[in-house]
Amino acid sequence: MSYLKITLSCLVMATHLLSLTFVTEVVAVNVISSEDELPQARKDQLTHIVQQDCGSCHGMTLKGGLGPALLPENLEGKPVLFLQHTILYGRTGTAMPPWKTLLTEQEALWISQQLKAGKIAKP
Ligand code: HEC
Repeated sequence: MSYLKITLSCLVMATHLLSLTFVTEVVAVNVISSEDELPQARKDQLTHIVQQDCGSCHGMTLKGGLGPALLPENLEGKPVLFLQHTILYGRTGTAMPPWKTLLTEQEALWISQQLKAGKIAKP
């Protein structure tokens, strides 16, 4: 990865961290849920996409295949924003494709959070 890319990723992460802090504060002050929240129907769709499409490489139960396992223990120490970036932009030189034309930043972030929390893989 070039220095420019790393710098850009850091910038992207910093921006997201800032907005996350902001959202947390807004939610704390104001109990009304954030309008950014994904609708449940879309969350269900995303869960399906991860199991089917991502599962074709990462395994239906995300235990790995052509791509590495995506269970919480495998993602330990990897920041959510790093995973989000991987999902959106893929990894050059590997089979991991970019998903930015199919998923929004918010959706990729949600998927990353679910993966880290172990909430997507079937038992
Ligand atoms: C065509 C195969 C393929 C598909 C489809 C695919 N991936 Fe991947 N993915 C890979 C490979 C291969 C890697 C490992 C890249 C590397 O060597 O760094 C990877 C890496 C990742 C990583 C980083 C894991 C880590 O430990 O750093 C995440 C997160 C990820 N994929 C999520 C997804 C999600 C979410 C989807 C579906 C939206 C998806 N992938 C679809 C092949 C795939």
